[in-house]
Amino acid sequence: MKILLSLTLAAALTPCVLRAANTEFKPGEIWTDTSGAPINAHGGGLLYHDQTYYWYGEIKTGKTWSPKSNSGWGGTRVDVVGISCYSSKDLLNWKHEGNVLPAVQDDPQHELHKSKVVERPKVIYNKATKKFVMWMHIDSEDYQLAHAGVAVSDQPTGPFQYLGSCRPDGAMSRDMTVFQDDDGKAYLFHSSEDNKTMHIALLSDDYLKPSGKFARVFEGRSMEAPAVFKHQGRYYFMASDCTGWAPNAARSAVADSIWGPWRELGNPCRGPDAALTFHGQSSYILPVAGQPGTFICYLDRWKQFDLQDSRYLWLPLQLTAAGFEVPWKDSWKLAK
Ligand code: DGJ
Repeated sequence: MKILLSLTLAAALTPCVLRAANTEFKPGEIWTDTSGAPINAHGGGLLYHDQTYYWYGEIKTGKTWSPKSNSGWGGTRVDVVGISCYSSKDLLNWKHEGNVLPAVQDDPQHELHKSKVVERPKVIYNKATKKFVMWMHIDSEDYQLAHAGVAVSDQPTGPFQYLGSCRPDGAMSRDMTVFQDDDGKAYLFHSSEDNKTMHIALLSDDYLKPSGKFARVFEGRSMEAPAVFKHQGRYYFMASDCTGWAPNAARSAVADSIWGPWRELGNPCRGPDAALTFHGQSSYILPVAGQPGTFICYLDRWKQFDLQDSRYLWLPLQLTAAGFEVPWKDSWKLAK
C-alpha cells in the first residue's frame, strides 16, 4: 500500500512531457524556449554579459492588419506588445525573462502606445554608468515620425525605463542597430533621409543620446535592417534593400574605419534563394564569446500577413579574404 502510494505521488509530481533540449540551429523552423513556447523576439539584438547571452526582440502577437495609411506599400502590423528578453548560456536553449518594455495601453499619445511602431531593439551595456541601454526604432502608425528611442535598466532582464526619442542629429531614423566598439564607443546606424542614406551617429559616453558627431554613408543606396560587426580591426556591415516586409537581396560592405570609406561587397548569401536572402532580412550579427572569428548571422523571416508566425534564420557567417559569406544550412551546430 505504502509503495503504491509513493509511486502515485511520484507520477503526479513528474511533468507529463519533458521538453527535449535544442541541440542544433534549425533556420526557419519554430524555435521553442525552455518552457516549450515559440520564441517571440523579432527584429532583435543580442547582448553577452557575465557569461550569459540575452536576446531582445519585438513581441509579435495578435491579429495582423493593414492600416489605411500603409496600404500603398503593404505595411501590415500587429499592435505593439513590448520588447521581450530571453537568456541563454549555449545560444540554443533560451529562457523567457519576460516583457522588459511593455506597450502603454491607456495613453494614445505615448510613444510606446500599442497603436505606434516599436521595432528593432538593441541593448548595450555601459561599463561606466553600469546601465543597460536599449535603442529602438520609434514611429507613428504611418512611419512618418521616424525617431530613435532609448530606454535604460539596471539589469539585463529589465524592467527598462523609457526615456524618450529623437531624430538623431536632426535626421530621420527608422531601421537601426547599435554597434559597441572595443574602445567603449557606441554608434547608432540608422536608415535616414527617407531611408535613402544610412547615418552613423556616435553616441554620448553614457550612450543615452547622439553626441553630435555623425556621418552619411551609402548615399542614395536605400538600405534597411543594418547589422555591424568587427573582426581584426576591420568593420563589416550587412543590410537589406527597402521593400517593406518582402525579402530582397542583402547587401554587405567593409571599412577600415567606422566612419568609412565603406566599400560595398554585394550580397553575402550563398545557397538556395540566396538572391532573396533565403526569404529573410538581417537583424543582428553576433560574435560568439571566446571564439574569435566565429559569428552568427541572425535574420528575420517575416510573414507579412501573419506577423506572429514570423521565423528566425540563424546562420553561420564565414569570413573570406574579401569580406564574408552567409551560407544556407537546414540545420547546424557551432563547433566546440
Ligand atoms: C522593413 C523594416 O526592415 C522592418 O523593420 C519593418 O519596419 C518593415 N519594413 C515594415 O514594413
